[in-house]
Amino acid sequence: MSSTSKFSTPGGKSSELPMLKGTHGPECADVRGLYKDAGVFTYDPGYATTASCKSAITFIDGDEGILLYRGYPIEQLAEHSDYLEVCHLLMYGELPTPEESAKFNNIIKQHTMVHENIRDFISGFRYDAHPMAMLVGTVGALSSFYHDSLDINNPKHREISAQRLIAKMPTIASYCHNHSRGLPFMYPDNTLSYVENFTRLMFAVPAEQFEPNPVAVKALELIMILHADHEQNASTSTVRLAGSSGANPFASIAAGIASLWGPAHGGANEAVMNMLDAIQDSGETIDQTIARAKDKNDPFRLMGFGHRVYKNFDPRAKIIQQMCHELLDDLGGDQPMFDLARELEQKTLADDYFKERRLYPNVDFYSGIILRALDIPMSMFTVMFAMSRTVGWISHWMEMHEDPEGRIGRPRQIYTGAARRDYPV
Ligand code: SDX
Repeated sequence: MSSTSKFSTPGGKSSELPMLKGTHGPECADVRGLYKDAGVFTYDPGYATTASCKSAITFIDGDEGILLYRGYPIEQLAEHSDYLEVCHLLMYGELPTPEESAKFNNIIKQHTMVHENIRDFISGFRYDAHPMAMLVGTVGALSSFYHDSLDINNPKHREISAQRLIAKMPTIASYCHNHSRGLPFMYPDNTLSYVENFTRLMFAVPAEQFEPNPVAVKALELIMILHADHEQNASTSTVRLAGSSGANPFASIAAGIASLWGPAHGGANEAVMNMLDAIQDSGETIDQTIARAKDKNDPFRLMGFGHRVYKNFDPRAKIIQQMCHELLDDLGGDQPMFDLARELEQKTLADDYFKERRLYPNVDFYSGIILRALDIPMSMFTVMFAMSRTVGWISHWMEMHEDPEGRIGRPRQIYTGAARRDYPV
């Protein structure tokens, strides 16, 4: 049963707001008629309580710490699925049958290579270019290679672009890494799985045989699954907003990569490790670090803590924390760093400042420790996040183009500038 709520202004204008309800989650007041009926806008900086679209891809309950991909709990996918199966699920809405899985995996394998000119393009960056700078530029440049399939109104063009992006991200990510290390670019090996191929692209050299490390592959598969999508986060909303103007998929994904780079978002995993390194190097106690994070006169924030939606534990953080334990037992790695992270986590969870603000460790808090244990350089941490999130971004981009209510995104504002005035003549 549809219901409405009534909005009235002090000046006596009013608007009937239809209440919309999805499968899960709170009701939404449909304010599309508000300005026409009552002459008012809504104000919601950061869109903390604004539903920008209807979506069937991912559901998050921040109070209960729930994350579902197409209805499946992230804990079950983390335990039983693999990244390409999750890609199929996010893109098409259903887990693939064995035949569909074989077909999808084979299509992805057919697109893992990039045009040879991409190698030259990446080689043109300075030796010390940040891999994210190379990634955002290269993905945007991909649109210059596929003029035959950039019609965003053609479902087949949208699908092949999605498949190309998923397939090529590991190749491009590894090229960004290898360029910054002065190492040769490896070609993909389609006899390997998606994640095995990525580890080979990243760590193999032409002079040596390479065998993927199953422990590293298992950890990376998990990280890729956990980061694949997350509702209307900043970078996904950026992809939708860029795509809503009709921008091609490669340009829209490049916009998402740019947004993800920020330390408040996907750049947090790199920022967490810099923070933990700084604590270790400075000899500062955890109590001193926590005091700085609470000090309103100090801009320092605890990287890896807090979340716009999760006001409980980030379910991905719990899963990653467990993987940290296993990996450090198997591979060794920075145990002192992990112990420091655990102490920081335990002390904040007991601290009223963080409890009152419902600030818990998020997915980025532990992922950096895993990536460091896998010998992935810190400058590549956000590239890893982008590689995983590409399927989420492109799934939302596709969904947006199939949405009958979709239109160009164009928020309004509260104007606080100078009142109208005449030019002094
Ligand atoms: C990701 O959206 C997504 O889904 C993102 C993501 C995804 O998968 O796409 O989950 C990935 O980006 C995870 C978040 C990674 N970022 C960080 O770890 C950076 C540190 N976290 C913060 O910058 C912050 O918590 C945000 C950006 C994540 C959330 O910011 P909000 O929701 O706008 O919260 P806020 O800035 O309004 O803070 C509320 C209060 C403030 O204190 P008061 O003014 O009320 O006194 O909490 C405080 C803040 O000062 N606070 C922190 C804090 N985060 C918030 N204090 C210390 N350390 C922190 N990390």
